[in-house]
Amino acid sequence: MQIVGEQNVLCDDEAFKKYGHDETEDFVFFPEVVVLPRTPQEISAILKLCNALNVPATPRGAGTGLSGGALPVNKGVLISMHRFDKILNIDEENYQATIEPGVITQVFQEAVQEKGLFYPPDPASKGSCFIGGNLAENSGGPKAVKYGVTSDYVLNLEVVLPTGEIIWTGANVLKNSTGYNLTQLLVGSEGTLGIITKAVFRLLPFPKKDLLMLVPFYSAEEACKAVSAIFKAGVTPSGLEFMERDALLLGAAYLGDDSLSIPKDIQAHLLIEVDGNEADVLYKDCETIYKVLEHYSCDEILFAEDASQKDKLWKIRRVVGEAVKSSSIYKEEDTVVPRAELPKLLMGVKSIGKKHGFNSVCYGHAGDGNLHINIMKGNMTDDAWNNELSKGIREIFNLCVELGGTISGEHGIGYVQKEYMNIPFSDVELKLQKSIKQTFDPKGILNPGKLFC
Ligand code: LAC
Ligand code: ZN
Repeated sequence: MQIVGEQNVLCDDEAFKKYGHDETEDFVFFPEVVVLPRTPQEISAILKLCNALNVPATPRGAGTGLSGGALPVNKGVLISMHRFDKILNIDEENYQATIEPGVITQVFQEAVQEKGLFYPPDPASKGSCFIGGNLAENSGGPKAVKYGVTSDYVLNLEVVLPTGEIIWTGANVLKNSTGYNLTQLLVGSEGTLGIITKAVFRLLPFPKKDLLMLVPFYSAEEACKAVSAIFKAGVTPSGLEFMERDALLLGAAYLGDDSLSIPKDIQAHLLIEVDGNEADVLYKDCETIYKVLEHYSCDEILFAEDASQKDKLWKIRRVVGEAVKSSSIYKEEDTVVPRAELPKLLMGVKSIGKKHGFNSVCYGHAGDGNLHINIMKGNMTDDAWNNELSKGIREIFNLCVELGGTISGEHGIGYVQKEYMNIPFSDVELKLQKSIKQTFDPKGILNPGKLFC
């Protein structure tokens, strides 16, 4: 209380409920106290205290995470970052911005867009997630296929270490070959190595135009096959999303949008966006895409006519996760493979599902080879769900690694995938990672119970 003031310390059940969950399945873990700091110095004092007393401390952004990264699984202190909500500087001369981690991603995007600038990473939850959470999980989103993920935009970070020291990881420059790259180490470290209190991002000029099409396929495998063919034809779309039939139907129904009529025999869709500054170039890109698609079994392409139709289609895509979630008890996996291996991954998932008796709804960032697999409990017995399923998940993850991929593309490992870390990593590789954690956090107080078993 002395550190943050009485009004910024919460110890009641209502607060514990609010801060005890994120968007990961139905997990709830109550912390012992919630603190709402406002400055790096306050966080430093909190972590020094936790370190001295061996008390777990869990940082939390907006709580939109899908791997349980912000869950206080070992109790202790929950540090909410929502008061770090300032955009400190938009540097139009250098195309850079310095912001605090509690800024909502879309708020940041809109602020830079007003100045003709572009911050591309756009997770589905961009309207509510915090930049700090995006940094912690190295979030992506649809635009990643052309523009890259969060880590591709981070130049420098102010970080409070678990032992309380405040450091900067790099410099505000576009090139940097000065020492180990702590900036990139911190991005995606899921709040286990330090608490980010400021971030410097590089920005791009905002692309002025985009075109969007929805392509129905008679076979989901064919849809996946078309993905790498589009890139091979020389086009890099600014979005190339895959939705299985049920994903699109659930998303549209969740929004109460009945404007799309989807024939019975359509099994999947690709949502394809191209962007840039010259309309002619974009129309040419679309022609090239059309030509590629002639070789695949697809139905009539829906070309979005105006901004509102584009918006509708993107809304349906963005809401799929939420829609699936509301339809059944589920588990969401965030697999990723080299994009040309996507058809093998999808077919593999389906046959593993058959073997273990589960259905899945698949969708995601096909252009990145990043497939979200929602495994639905449906009619599965509790016994099968609790005991059989993890064998199936293991098989899916083994397949990912065999195909040259890994077990999370953008949601992180957090609490829910840590038991599978021995699939992508050998003992030596895991030991190396754990030794990094040990160096940063000798007493293991920061976000314990995450990443490693
Ligand atoms: C999406 C989130 C779940 O792509 O990553 O919708
Ligand atoms: Zn996603």
